[in-house]
Amino acid sequence: MRRYKDFICKECGYRSPKWLGRCPSCGSWDSFNEEGEGPFPLVKPLKEFNGEKVRRLKTGFKNLDEALNGGLVEGQVVLIFGEPGIGKSTLLLQVCDRFSEGEVLYVSGEESKEQVYLRARRLNLKGDFLFLAQTHLESLLETVLEVKPKLLVIDSVQTLHSDRVESSPGSVSQVRECSFRIVEVCKELGTCVFLVGQVNKEGNVAGPKVLEHVVDTLLSFEGERQNFYRVVKVIKNRFGSTGEIGVFKMGERGLEEVPEPSEFFLKERLHQPGSVVYPYTEGSKPLLLEVQSLVLPSLYSSPQRRTYCFDPNRLVMILAILEKRAKVFLRDQDVFLNVVGGVEVREPSADLSVALSVVSAKVDKAVPEDLIAFGELGLGGEVRAVHFCEYRLMEAKRFGFKKAIIPKGCELPEELKEGLEIFKVRHIKEALEVCFEGINS
Ligand SMILES: Nc1ncnc2c1ncn2[C@@H]1O[C@H](COP(=O)(O)OP(=O)(O)OP(=O)(O)O)[C@@H](O)[C@H]1O
Ligand SMILES: [Mg+2]
Repeated sequence: MRRYKDFICKECGYRSPKWLGRCPSCGSWDSFNEEGEGPFPLVKPLKEFNGEKVRRLKTGFKNLDEALNGGLVEGQVVLIFGEPGIGKSTLLLQVCDRFSEGEVLYVSGEESKEQVYLRARRLNLKGDFLFLAQTHLESLLETVLEVKPKLLVIDSVQTLHSDRVESSPGSVSQVRECSFRIVEVCKELGTCVFLVGQVNKEGNVAGPKVLEHVVDTLLSFEGERQNFYRVVKVIKNRFGSTGEIGVFKMGERGLEEVPEPSEFFLKERLHQPGSVVYPYTEGSKPLLLEVQSLVLPSLYSSPQRRTYCFDPNRLVMILAILEKRAKVFLRDQDVFLNVVGGVEVREPSADLSVALSVVSAKVDKAVPEDLIAFGELGLGGEVRAVHFCEYRLMEAKRFGFKKAIIPKGCELPEELKEGLEIFKVRHIKEALEVCFEGINS
């Protein structure tokens, strides 16, 4: 229930405690209605905003749109960051070429028009979008205000400099000032923006933390330069869920989407000791990844632990749990661990598959070919429940897997159990028992 009622101008939203014939703010005549009487666009119960469907603009890549919950929302500001040479400019040039709503402007501060032209030719682009080589913020904003693009790409935000700030391009204050002002203008115009961000030595976005706060969406672009898979991961999103991914393949003609990444990552798998399939997901789209290990006697007094796409400290912890809680000794062994596909796995639900993979390599015995495993390991050797169990198992079933070792604490709908032999385990020892009967006990 409202406690008081104002009179509101239906043209401009000006509020007055009493009725007025002419609005003092916009000058309209007979435009005042009592609050709750007429159509008031400015204030209404939140649930009524529901009906106003948000329009999503397509980037031209189906998997990128899916990762962005259907596409870009007008005025959405996206920061995309990744290692040098990973393909950020390539991806965004392709997005500009495919974007089909209104004017598109690509601003490069890093490359000359000749360089970009040559790349566009190699990528076989139509090249109908506008291109500007500019690093001066005020000139750039002038162009933006004139062109009013529906999509703006800034490659990269670290190259820009504003007259209002003394320091050099890429400095904290320049990046802050430039990104603020671009966001301000583009929110006003309803322009979607991709800001390219460089990364620091640790692989995080370079520059001020505030950059991550001013944008609506944060995408990380991952993969190995020497390798051809690339993954776009949604780290933050004010217009949808996080953890979503899009998988691409890099080739001569640029990036190509991979519609069935699980199939793509598993097609070269050899069924042998050390190989365990793990359903990865941090969002709604799971991905079957192969975890591989190699364990061999160490030549040195301190054994090696090497990982690829997996946190080496986490591996060391898992090895300690295996030793203390399951009596699998690896301290005189070198351990190499690889998660195939270039997706950097950070979620703890990979622990169980990593442990099984290492033990499988150690005892030189393969786990069943049609088995998947996931679960977080606690220091007590307990297998802890994780998110998205259903999605993971559905993906495994879709690709013909028949057995799953999962945490005891995961609850599942009955229909998922059909055609899938599910082993619910409470402790790492139980999981080892399922795979390698009697080996550890
Ligand atoms: N002739 C070519 N054929 C196939 N791939 C190429 C060719 N030239 C470049 N590439 C690929 O494109 C990548 C460069 O991509 P791009 O310039 O889009 O990366 P970036 O992330 O924008 O890099 P930076 O951070 O330096 O701006 C190279 O690493 C390479 O893999
Ligand atoms: Mg680039």
